[in-house]
Amino acid sequence: MFSAAEQNAMAVAMAEAGKGGKRVFPNPLVGAVILNSQGIVLSSGFHGFCGAPHAEREALGRIDSADGCTMVVTLEPCCHHGRTPPCTEAIIQAGIVRVVVAMKDPDPRMSGKGVRILRENGIEVETGLMESEAEELNSLYLHHLRTGRSFLHLKMAGTLDGRSAAADGSSRWITGPESRRRVHLYRKNAHAVLVGAGTAEKDDPSLTVRSVDCPNDQQPVRIILTDRELSQSLKVFRDGGRTVVASPFHIKVPDFVELWPDIHSLDELLIKTAAEGLGMVFCEGGGTLAASLVKAELVDRLSIFTAPALLGGSGLPLIGNTGSASIDDMIRLKNVTVERTGSDILTEGTIVHRAD
Ligand SMILES: NC(=O)c1ccc[n+]([C@@H]2O[C@H](COP(=O)([O-])OP(=O)(O)OC[C@H]3O[C@@H](n4cnc5c(N)ncnc54)[C@H](OP(=O)(O)O)[C@@H]3O)[C@@H](O)[C@H]2O)c1
Repeated sequence: MFSAAEQNAMAVAMAEAGKGGKRVFPNPLVGAVILNSQGIVLSSGFHGFCGAPHAEREALGRIDSADGCTMVVTLEPCCHHGRTPPCTEAIIQAGIVRVVVAMKDPDPRMSGKGVRILRENGIEVETGLMESEAEELNSLYLHHLRTGRSFLHLKMAGTLDGRSAAADGSSRWITGPESRRRVHLYRKNAHAVLVGAGTAEKDDPSLTVRSVDCPNDQQPVRIILTDRELSQSLKVFRDGGRTVVASPFHIKVPDFVELWPDIHSLDELLIKTAAEGLGMVFCEGGGTLAASLVKAELVDRLSIFTAPALLGGSGLPLIGNTGSASIDDMIRLKNVTVERTGSDILTEGTIVHRAD
């Protein structure tokens, strides 16, 4: 049973956890709150970035004594020596008598061991408060643990008749300013923005965060996937930001541009991005790359902006050939949300894969 004070504290801990943002990857987002025996909040803390003190130690460090207190924490406290010493040790030493945990940590070094150690030391531990919210909060971390890949968020923008560009390849701007602002928010949340060679050459995009505040060191890395050499005059090669060209081949790239050669599949690309600390990859097309990602079942979240406009049959399809020959092969979404962004409609969801 969880008290009302613990339930309120867990909501606060979740909000604290979220403050870590993308800087914590590949670690989880974690927030902790300490309550005294009357259920009054004494302190809170969060994990700020990979390598920084954990949320539990942050919260403990802000008060003189936690003797007899309860700790409410969004993830099972760690029990191993990583970059920082185990949180279980700090909790035991501080005299905490009860720990309320949202979810156990599926990291094989933990997976229940942290909870067990606390209990073995006489601390009462209850798990499962706001568990599904905690899982949602840590979808990036959980996805990486499960697959070894980055989380792939695919966004496309199209017309009511499903076209992503006119016959001449022009696509600016199909959707309105509110939709484009949302795209900039998604870029800001991502570690990397990915496009195919077709979009890089046709649109020459900057792929930077502009219409929302974003410190320079939080700008996403731009990744262009290509089988061939690209024009050296592209904006992403000249503006001083970090740009990566991913290719199966050792192609020539301009000075200061990183080349990731020997990337032979999209799966390999997303393993490489995860290894580089780029846990959230936001793909902005075009339709050929989008179709490859859908076919390879690598899209973890899909966002489609639909503008009240028509381009007709000569326009480019929103998503290329995904291999659906019959209606039985139609790809469906689940967990769907629909909202208005200005005069556009934003539909989001996750793809139902064949194995689901
Ligand atoms: N409305 C929208 O949301 C939106 C978004 C983006 C783009 N666009 C429009 O879409 C058009 C460009 O789209 P596009 O389909 O031609 O280009 P694209 O999807 O951006 O790029 C496709 C190219 O990427 C390279 N590539 C390398 N590995 C790949 C892989 N595994 N899967 C797929 N592609 C891979 C290939 O080029 P090489 O083999 O030649 O290297 C391929 O031809 C432009 O007109 C642009 O304005 C619209």
